[in-house]
Amino acid sequence: MNDLPKDLTSQELLQQIGRLKKEREAVILAHNYQPPEIQDLADFTGDSLELSMIAAKTPAKVIVFCGVQFMGETAAILSPDKTVLLPVLEAGCTLADYATAEQLREAKKKYPNAIVVTYVNSSAEVKAETDICCTSANAIQIVESIEGNRPILFVSDYNLGHYAAKKTGKNIILWNGCCPTHALLSPFAIAKAKKKWPEAQVIMHPECKPETLELADFVGSTSGMLKYAKSQPAGASFIVGTEVGLLHRLQKENPDKTFHPASDYLICPMMKMTTLKNVKDSLEKMQYVVKVPAEIRLKAKAAVDAMLQYTASLKITTK
Ligand code: 13P
Repeated sequence: MNDLPKDLTSQELLQQIGRLKKEREAVILAHNYQPPEIQDLADFTGDSLELSMIAAKTPAKVIVFCGVQFMGETAAILSPDKTVLLPVLEAGCTLADYATAEQLREAKKKYPNAIVVTYVNSSAEVKAETDICCTSANAIQIVESIEGNRPILFVSDYNLGHYAAKKTGKNIILWNGCCPTHALLSPFAIAKAKKKWPEAQVIMHPECKPETLELADFVGSTSGMLKYAKSQPAGASFIVGTEVGLLHRLQKENPDKTFHPASDYLICPMMKMTTLKNVKDSLEKMQYVVKVPAEIRLKAKAAVDAMLQYTASLKITTK
């Protein structure tokens, strides 16, 4: 007789997640790049800005963050009285790894007059060395809000910083970092996709390279692209220049439109690590708790709060 434990079916896992979520008084947040079944089970799916806003306000006791480490950390920075769980401990962000607090302290010595604007795709330690954070949804407005011609040290996505500099004309010192998934998307791939789908509009994330962004009809955060696609007439089609996870929501929320990935290689391996079983285990075992040391948390919170307050004053919403 086979006495090995049998794998639970997706249906059984979903039932257990539902029960555990109630018991723990938890909320499940999922980034727009998560696998389809994770997006479908989440209470909220969104871009980095939306999810950090929800994390700051949720009455839930436990936040299960289906995303990558910096997202869980941002939630823990904003909600120290809540337990933030990351279902997959190893789900990191290569872009966030491009900047360490030590490197940023050195750069600040080199540019003592610069104001530090840091992309939320960064560690809590780097945020703690930052004046104001930004996401891809508000980078232009945050950069624009820096008065005068004061230099802006933009950490750590070169491409997003370059895009913000181009849009605002501000004096931006760029950091040598990138998202390897978005940086892979070439003008050649876009030209190939346009040949295949000549009617389609090209929508793209600002983490793509400047020469690739040149070919976009619309550039925005993941939720910015969702909003744009919704605003277009029925029958419209799109070439999507971002991680393929976004196509699930795009197609689900726009059944009358067609979406094509700009390339088959736009896959973030870290975002794809989360499974239903990880989420169930996370709630059952209360793992993996995201912890940020108090002294780092307070400094990092000031930079994230500065972003959220400014964003609220502009009434930026991605919905
Ligand atoms: P958004 O904030 O646009 O969802 O992007 C997050 C991200 O990590 C992009 O690679």
